[in-house]
Amino acid sequence: MDKLVIAGGARLTGEVEVSGAKNAALPILAASLLCNEKVNLKNLPQLCDITTMFKVLDILGVKSCETEEEISIHPEGIDNFEAPYDLVKQMRASILVLGPLLGRFGKARVSLPGGCAIGSRPIDLHLKGLERLGTEIRIEGGYIEAKATRLKGNEIYLDFPSVGATLNLIMAATLAEGETIIEEAAKEPEVVDLISFLNTMGAKIEGAGGDRLQITGVKELRGGTYKIIPDRIEAGTFMVAATITQGEILVKGANIEHLGAVVTKLEELGASIEKEADGICVASREIRHPIEIKTMPHPGFPTDMQAQFMALATITPGTSIITETIFENRFMHVSELNRMGADIIVEGNSAIIKGASRLFGASVMATDLRASAALVLAGLIAEGTTEVLRVYHLDRGYERIEEKLSRLGANIWRKKDE
Ligand code: UD1
Repeated sequence: MDKLVIAGGARLTGEVEVSGAKNAALPILAASLLCNEKVNLKNLPQLCDITTMFKVLDILGVKSCETEEEISIHPEGIDNFEAPYDLVKQMRASILVLGPLLGRFGKARVSLPGGCAIGSRPIDLHLKGLERLGTEIRIEGGYIEAKATRLKGNEIYLDFPSVGATLNLIMAATLAEGETIIEEAAKEPEVVDLISFLNTMGAKIEGAGGDRLQITGVKELRGGTYKIIPDRIEAGTFMVAATITQGEILVKGANIEHLGAVVTKLEELGASIEKEADGICVASREIRHPIEIKTMPHPGFPTDMQAQFMALATITPGTSIITETIFENRFMHVSELNRMGADIIVEGNSAIIKGASRLFGASVMATDLRASAALVLAGLIAEGTTEVLRVYHLDRGYERIEEKLSRLGANIWRKKDE
């Protein structure tokens, strides 16, 4: 198993390129199951989760080939409709093949994903919505067995704007007969990107980025070429890296429209943020003000940036409060940050962070993807050496993070953990 070793104290400066968005690429790869011609995707990030999704597609009979510029996906020869436990347990987002398999073939057998480190993460909203479209669902032997002759459009109201449920239902409804309305749909940029991909391939979906989506079923989707949006969470993580090290970074390719709440909170802390022609420039000389953050569905503050801001709050003068409303157990980084000298207590779903002037290097253990990013950020400013163990969590969502940080001046390297 690899670990990252960081000698803290360097001020990060320079330019960094943001990769394609993992959470847009995963549903778009799944949505290629709906097409009956070749799909070319550009700007796919090279990440473990993307490799896992390719393994799922491969098992279903989808071939793919890669050039330097793009990846071509051939969904013409699908001959299997089962996503096995072995792959789903590696990556929950494998559940995203359920909607498109049902939409195109009227059958799917997908392992139930189970909980994960950040919460129980049920999928009841996915399943209820699919039932509204005429799917018969049985749970047997840990698998969702779903079938339908042809899905029929219907009105679906989501009790919560779940990103995954919205994605699955959009994909299922794309080839359904008639019109589907999804009320209280998720508005995340990755949902908008999926819709824009599907519309490029011939779908008829209106309302992207709003609460109400209107999907008029079409008979088939063609193939085509599509470029995935930049990763707003990777961009936000580098923006925090600039602020926490009191550096100056041009985050190239970042789209400021996807990062409203993150920009506002960094400005409140005292960072200066400029929109440039090719990205976002973040400069920070002094972190002045404590923050209050409450995670919310988009356009609210993203839960996927909560841990990184907590690392920042540990060295911000005064008392900051971070409240997590999306996942019930997303404070696993607190005890690790405290081992580095932070002063954080958790009360219910809020973390109260008393800013100190210093953190100290330690061996710390990552428990999930964004928690790992928070520990790397803390390591960048800690006195002495920090080792972040279990880097495989980071590799799921950050492309070559240590190379990107090194180029900005960080002293960071990857080592085999003996
Ligand atoms: C996606 C993102 C993840 C991000 C999250 C919230 C991907 C691969 N992952 O996860 O990085 O943190 O959105 O922005 O895109 N819920 C239910 N029933 C359901 C579905 C969800 O109760 O059927 C609950 C979940 O347990 C959770 C909340 O709704 O508490 C949000 O989940 P959801 O928006 O679905 O997140 P994911 O799609 O799993």
